[in-house]
Amino acid sequence: MAAFDPLSYKVPGEYQYEGITFSIAFPDISYDMLDGWQVKESDVVVTTFPKSGTWWISEIVAQVLDQRGGPSVPYIEMGFPGVPTGIKTLDTMKDPRLLKSHLSYKFFERKVEIDNLKVVVVLRDPRDVLVSYYHMYQSEQLGGFPGSFSDFFQLVKAKKLLCGCPLDWAASWWQKKDLPNVLLVTYEDMKADCGQVVRSIASFLGRSLSDKRVDAIVEHCSFGEMKKRKPIFVPDGFYRKGLVGDWNNHFSVEEAKYAKELIRQKFGPVGLRLYE
Ligand code: A3P
Repeated sequence: MAAFDPLSYKVPGEYQYEGITFSIAFPDISYDMLDGWQVKESDVVVTTFPKSGTWWISEIVAQVLDQRGGPSVPYIEMGFPGVPTGIKTLDTMKDPRLLKSHLSYKFFERKVEIDNLKVVVVLRDPRDVLVSYYHMYQSEQLGGFPGSFSDFFQLVKAKKLLCGCPLDWAASWWQKKDLPNVLLVTYEDMKADCGQVVRSIASFLGRSLSDKRVDAIVEHCSFGEMKKRKPIFVPDGFYRKGLVGDWNNHFSVEEAKYAKELIRQKFGPVGLRLYE
């Protein structure tokens, strides 16, 4: 049997848009895909690079808005057999409309800067993102990547990851974090003091919550509780560890050095100093 070449690996239905890799689950990607959206003042988007806590933040924001979370929060750009993309179903949604997305800032530019769309952005240490992504790549959904973490790291180096480079993604949103309609939080903040993050989201969305309600949201959205409520279609390994710093258990010395340099190169110029 021929040796596995990680660089020949493709996620199901892989294609490129403006140098970014997408899959069959992202059917209509283009920079003007959001143009037809008539943004309402109450619309809210949570945006993350994959594996940065998308479901966690969606669940928290849904709770703050007194809505159902989980699969009830549609992805703007993702569609699955029988599930159209969120952008196509906006008109069927009740206010306030909450959506999630993995798109980088450039896709949202006009919605954020002209239409004042409210966006909650989550950043996570890109090294932990990569470890979590490696495990997700092994799932059927992403084609069952058969290689080791080092093999996966080759895809990182070759800039072939689904949804692009997590560092470019983070840098794109970081530069907009001071806009009044953008709230940037980190996975690490959510782990350190989730109650404080819940309060800042409530204040951003103009909601007032009692301390008791904040505590209830934190509990409802804890790793253990969310794992118990895992929808059947979500792979079993999805709620994997939910930790900060697991990358230390996966990166070789060389990979750690490479990542450190990449963090310096990509985050330094935009003043993002959280993960040095
Ligand atoms: P790990 O693989 O490191 O455990 P996404 O929702 O963007 O796909 O992110 C998935 C990652 O978020 C996984 O990370 C998952 O365990 C973690 N996660 C999901 N819910 C969480 C929660 N309530 N608390 C902490 N981490 C959570």
